[in-house]
Amino acid sequence: MFQWKKDVPAVAPYSRLASIYDYVMRHVDYVHWASYVESLLARHDLAPESLIDLACGTGSLALELARRGYQMSGSDGCAEMLVVGKEKVKRQGYEIPFYHRNLLDLSSLSTFEGVLCLYDSMNYLMTLSNMATALQQVRRVVSPGGVFIFDVCTESNSMRYFRDMTDKDQGDGFSYTRHSYYDNGVQFNKFEIRFEDPQEVVREVHSQRIYSLSDIEAVLEDAPFQVEGVYGGYGFEPPTELADRVHFVLRG
Ligand SMILES: C[S@@+](CC[C@H](N)C(=O)[O-])C[C@H]1O[C@@H](n2cnc3c(N)ncnc32)[C@H](O)[C@@H]1O
Repeated sequence: MFQWKKDVPAVAPYSRLASIYDYVMRHVDYVHWASYVESLLARHDLAPESLIDLACGTGSLALELARRGYQMSGSDGCAEMLVVGKEKVKRQGYEIPFYHRNLLDLSSLSTFEGVLCLYDSMNYLMTLSNMATALQQVRRVVSPGGVFIFDVCTESNSMRYFRDMTDKDQGDGFSYTRHSYYDNGVQFNKFEIRFEDPQEVVREVHSQRIYSLSDIEAVLEDAPFQVEGVYGGYGFEPPTELADRVHFVLRG
């Protein structure tokens, strides 16, 4: 197992990764994500004009959807991720309001015809009770008849890609080591990030709860939504055990 260096200070998840997040995630195809969201909307005869992306990170998906003409907003629990997002959006000539909100407290957000929470962000809710609370909170921001689309990472995904993996990379002014592993229903991604100017090394631990489909379905039974569709891995078929990701389409 990967050994951490001693005396490296731990910082809050995403607080320092924020500045290099877009580099670390450069393989992610947000164009494809946006197209999949649009295809889910079309499949369910939905045509929302206003969308909010919850746990939007640095706003890459929100930006892609804004390019496609949606009136976009974003929110995230990590202020540093939003700072990066705001700069990126402004640089590219768009205006997207970003709100600093935890999924467990979305009070004082207005309502939207469509609400998104994508790319495993719901897995950061570490208990089913928190998942239920988040669904109640999300309901507050979905306008009547509106839609909530979210996904979760599956155990197959964790076992396939995060069982015990260490990777290293470097970019302009930084380098990092990431050790990922899956233990007892939790996927861990531990980052050690080294910045050059000023010289600093920090550690971030990201933990994601991997839920069984039946656990989520049980939470959804009591949630204030109608389940309209459950799909496996960016497709339109019901999920199998082998799906990397499961997508949910809920109606408010
Ligand atoms: C894997 S990243 C995905 C970000 C973005 N959706 C994307 O596709 O790039 C997970 C995001 O969830 C956010 N997050 C985790 N727990 C959260 C919570 N309880 N409330 C709000 N945001 C949260 C993190 O700050 C991070 O930006």
